[in-house]
Amino acid sequence: MEYTDIVMENFTCPKHVGEMEDANGVGQVGNPSCGDIMKIFLKIDENDIITDASFKTFGCGAAIASSSVATDMIIGKSIEEANNLKNEEVVDALGGLPTQKIHCSVLAAEAIQAAILDYKKNKKK
Ligand code: FES
Repeated sequence: MEYTDIVMENFTCPKHVGEMEDANGVGQVGNPSCGDIMKIFLKIDENDIITDASFKTFGCGAAIASSSVATDMIIGKSIEEANNLKNEEVVDALGGLPTQKIHCSVLAAEAIQAAILDYKKNKKK
């Protein structure tokens, strides 16, 4: 299977790229088998709603496209909803991914969960 047009669009013109200075939740995950690393930045308001999200991904095209659609999908959502984002939903939003690239979408879901965990830890301090 080739990459879909949506994957190519989100790879060549990804949305929400870059570090976020005032993020209050940051999560980083890596996949040891391919060596790719994904970092997600979240801005979460006092009602636990994600008002902004961005990413820095050192990885393959599918990882970058997954980061782009995943950040887009969680903006405006509650942290509970974002925490429940399944990698299958990311794959669907991309119009599909080749089997050997499914783990790239898993990375996006995991990085979001890591960022939410970081936010919860910061909040307790
Ligand atoms: Fe590992 Fe894409 S090949 S994240």
